[in-house]
Amino acid sequence: MDIAVIGTGNIGSELARALAVADHDVILANSRGPESLHELAADLQARAATVDDAVAQADVVVLSIPFAAIPGLGQTLRRAPASTIIVEMSNYYPLAGVIEGVDDAASTSTWLSRQIGRPVLKAWNTIFSRSLSLKGRAPGQSDRVALPVAGDDPEDKKVVMQLVEDTGFEAVDAGTLADSWRMQPGSPVYCTDLDATALRAALARADRTRMPHDRDAQIRAAYNPENGGVGIDMVNGVQIYRDITQ
Ligand SMILES: NC(=O)c1ccc[n+]([C@@H]2O[C@H](COP(=O)([O-])OP(=O)(O)OC[C@H]3O[C@@H](n4cnc5c(N)ncnc54)[C@H](OP(=O)(O)O)[C@@H]3O)[C@@H](O)[C@H]2O)c1
Repeated sequence: MDIAVIGTGNIGSELARALAVADHDVILANSRGPESLHELAADLQARAATVDDAVAQADVVVLSIPFAAIPGLGQTLRRAPASTIIVEMSNYYPLAGVIEGVDDAASTSTWLSRQIGRPVLKAWNTIFSRSLSLKGRAPGQSDRVALPVAGDDPEDKKVVMQLVEDTGFEAVDAGTLADSWRMQPGSPVYCTDLDATALRAALARADRTRMPHDRDAQIRAAYNPENGGVGIDMVNGVQIYRDITQ
């Protein structure tokens, strides 16, 4: 399957690696163009392309770019064939800049889907890049981390759930795109590296009224300005995030 990973930063590069290891044909794109991606592309035996070409060539497009940048790709995404599956893995943090209308939507992904004029699915947004790179396991292993997948089209969701499995994580159906508020920052499933049983229970007990408080508390508790570009202490972050959403 041809999978375009748009955005190859902290987490996009790890996701692209996991997909390439699973023998998918990965196409990489970022905002600076394919010249800036030759090294990573060679390392992953992937192709580097412009965003337009990557979207046009892919069966599945994974958007691994900042939330606020996604609406700007609307024109390109609308040109993709109707069969192209679009997955987004972003997280909206008002602390990084309030965007009008987002909080009124059923979920942040619902808002994004409206902005770009295409259906999207949500996956891989609930795991730190560090966990994505270190905690992938083959099916059947006891310490497998589970990840929620949300979306409206059952067939497309099956495809994306299989891709999540291919990257080493147990895929759990988290419902429709409107339901995906349960997997947004501040939820007990968010960056807490749970197994499938605990993840299902955490999705069920997500409390929308409490999530903004817990989201901001998590950032305050785990933020470490010395931790490179990410700022979040991902070594202790999983435990910190679990404790806050207990
Ligand atoms: N980091 C994590 O642990 C983590 C976990 C879960 C979800 N996420 C989500 O994943 C997304 C990426 O996070 P990140 O930490 O990997 O960010 P990042 O390190 O800042 O990387 C962002 C990537 O997006 C690209 N990009 C930005 N605007 C673009 C545009 N208009 N067109 C094409 N490419 C564009 C950048 O390309 P250039 O470098 O060329 O500008 C870069 O490759 C975010 O939505 C974030 O919320 C992150």
